[in-house]
Amino acid sequence: MPEHDLIVIGAGPGGYVAAIRAAQLGLNVGIVEKEAALGGTCVRVGCIPSKALLESSERYAEAKHGLDVHGIQLGEVGLDLAAMMERKDAVVKANTDGVAFLMKKNGVTRYAGTARITGPGTVVVHGQEGGDDDAQELAAEHVLIATGSKVATLPGVEIDGEVVVDSTGALAFDQVPGHLVVIGAGYIGLELGSVWQRLGAEVTVLEYLDRVLPGMDAEIAKEAQKTFAKQGMTFRLGSKVTGVQVKGRGKKKRAVIQVEGEEPVEADRVLLAVGRTPNTADLGLDDVGVELDERGRIKVDEAFRTTAKGFYAIGDVIAGPMLAHKAEEDGVAAVERIVTGAGHVDYGLVPGIVYTEPEIATVGKTEEALKEEGVPYVKGVFPYQANGRARAMDRTGGKVKILAHADTDRLLGVHIIGAHAGDLIAEAVTAMTFGASAEDVARTVHAHPTLSEIVKEAALAAGGASLHI
Ligand code: NAI
Repeated sequence: MPEHDLIVIGAGPGGYVAAIRAAQLGLNVGIVEKEAALGGTCVRVGCIPSKALLESSERYAEAKHGLDVHGIQLGEVGLDLAAMMERKDAVVKANTDGVAFLMKKNGVTRYAGTARITGPGTVVVHGQEGGDDDAQELAAEHVLIATGSKVATLPGVEIDGEVVVDSTGALAFDQVPGHLVVIGAGYIGLELGSVWQRLGAEVTVLEYLDRVLPGMDAEIAKEAQKTFAKQGMTFRLGSKVTGVQVKGRGKKKRAVIQVEGEEPVEADRVLLAVGRTPNTADLGLDDVGVELDERGRIKVDEAFRTTAKGFYAIGDVIAGPMLAHKAEEDGVAAVERIVTGAGHVDYGLVPGIVYTEPEIATVGKTEEALKEEGVPYVKGVFPYQANGRARAMDRTGGKVKILAHADTDRLLGVHIIGAHAGDLIAEAVTAMTFGASAEDVARTVHAHPTLSEIVKEAALAAGGASLHI
């Protein structure tokens, strides 16, 4: 029986990064993955392919509508969806191959198949064939569960992969839907809704709450909704979807979406994006005493130890935001805890980014949270409109909003909507990690002309006065 110091179950961003870090720290590591390609949801059917399509569809939209202003005239702009999908698949393959290369380079042993925990320190891997003949038993002192999450379902809504799809299906439509209904105005709904809206679909977003992007700063979310509505998306807030029926046959199939207290909505395609749930089933957790919390997530302590000795868990299967970079940090901290005894993640400073156009990025506390907690704060806002680089780029929509403690000036939250928000937020995360004040950011030299000056100006605004407005 192969023996390892550590077996990682799941080769997503949490698991594969944990495996690399563990190997760097001298452990003999094995990693088990049931999919043929490594990289998990993020690399295969999530972050990476969606960003490839967001990039392509944005270029298409720009070629169609956004270049006149620069004095660039194109002839007729056409769409080759199959070629766009091929490029996306090639981007995914480069990344999944990259993960496989990293496993090899770091001496991590790869096991192909589905892992099941069978006892303290033992895991059985069932290959594609299934059954006992195709099973291999592994032993390890430590087992790290990094099995990620799957799409949450809604009662009355069956994902058939054709008319009613999850995010994986919406990354692979073979034609642009006439009318796409998106259920849920969260990360996935807005990103993939944007992709198909840019490519020509009529997109209606049905959202249960009275706002989009729950959890994000409300002022920024409101501006996001306004911007996407201007781009052509229709939002129906306060709409609770209670079921979807598919009628018709073959190419004529259509969906009828039932909304509580409202007329049903018809669509060619439906994207269900109402969240994700942890993958904990069929892992054998009960057999060894790994306990779940009330929301089905694996309970862990500050060292990522589960309730069963020798078993650890990270990423989407434990509490916290279901984000690839959070899973990576969990993975590094978990193995460092095992090997060195130190390692931790600051969950107050996990940035969130929605890769729409414009992007939306956030870190730290929202204004609503500060109000609720009774924390005294000052607010500095600066619009892209007043930034020279943004004007030169013709990307003047959006703003940076900085929230700092009213007494200490310590940065508490930074929220951005606008071009390259996802890159600009990195400065805020670094500053906050070092406990910076708004004045620290305001007094830092920011190159001119760059969008980063908007962050500096918002920090100046928090201190009383921006220079350029
Ligand atoms: P989400 O939690 O972001 O949004 C789900 C939305 O569906 C919420 O607004 C919720 O109120 C709504 N909803 C729930 N039930 C409903 C109903 N019956 N009718 C209408 N609306 C309903 O979940 P989403 O977008 O599915 O994303 C899943 C996870 O994947 C998230 O945790 C997110 O963090 C992650 N993700 C991150 C991305 C990024 O970092 N850019 C991109 C895509 C996903």
